Amino acid sequence: MPERPRVLVTRKWPDRIEALMAERYDATFNLSDIPFGQEELVAAMHGYDAICTTITDRISADILSVENRRTQIIANFGAGFEHIDLAAANRAGVSVSNTPGVLTDATADLAITLMLMTSRRAGEGERELRAGAWQGWRPTHLLGTSLRGKTLGLVGFGRIAQATAERAKFGFGMEIAYFSRRPGAKDEVDRLGAQYFPTLDELAGRCDFLSLHVPGGPETRNMINAEILAKLPRHAILINTARGDVVDETALVNALTEGSIAGAGLDVFVGEPAVRPELLTAPNAVLLPHLGSATIETREAMGLCALANLDDWREGRKPRNCLT
Ligand code: 8YV
Repeated sequence: MPERPRVLVTRKWPDRIEALMAERYDATFNLSDIPFGQEELVAAMHGYDAICTTITDRISADILSVENRRTQIIANFGAGFEHIDLAAANRAGVSVSNTPGVLTDATADLAITLMLMTSRRAGEGERELRAGAWQGWRPTHLLGTSLRGKTLGLVGFGRIAQATAERAKFGFGMEIAYFSRRPGAKDEVDRLGAQYFPTLDELAGRCDFLSLHVPGGPETRNMINAEILAKLPRHAILINTARGDVVDETALVNALTEGSIAGAGLDVFVGEPAVRPELLTAPNAVLLPHLGSATIETREAMGLCALANLDDWREGRKPRNCLT
């Protein structure tokens, strides 16, 4: 291990964290902030002891199996890790860490933002006003629906789901229901008064909002398909702050166009940053550019967490958020 390991940070991080990184490591930053291609990532494997990736770097088995690899650790900036082939990393003996926990509140806040924006028709209203089409106040203008007394159905019951439920229940008077592989811890379930549904079908039939909180990747791909969307009541709204590929977007576009659901609030998309044109023109969809963890406090905390994982590795400990 060199005294000052060479670290590549693949995207621009908050200034304060880049400064800390430069103090502790022989760090290279991506000044242009343009995402790296596969060739640059292969070159990075030869040139750096550690690489700090984000969701925009696809770390495939091919990249992990390069000959004469120098890289020992990939410290991902982000909680989700479906863009990194963990099995290949294990085979190659490369450690991979992530930054869980620190983005829980910011992401839960954004799920609530999308619930309010969709149910109160904030996107439609803003577009109308900016287009100069607002005709003034009237009793029946852009009427939405309130959250109080409605049921929030959570798909997944991890940290972010629970933080969203807490806001929904204690902030907005909603009822909480959830589907996950197994029931949640009793204390938390009792505190939230959360009703467990053993199947997604049953949950979908019983909620006014369905909010997704499962990891992306092959196991959850198209989990929200035409059949599940058909189970939702016509007034229901789908919220996705998880990963785009959890939803079959073709089925979602059909449901929005046919009016078999009332709306969707989406922060994540299949094939980001491209967004399919039918979503862009759907009046009942609120679309955000993957802002779940986008607060300065959270992005700094994510950077500090990635740094802590690097420090663990440099000092010979298992990185605290090691995934491999
Ligand atoms: C991150 C996210 O900003 O952490 C995650 O899983 O979805 C985002 O909020 C992004 O993944 C950065 O790599």
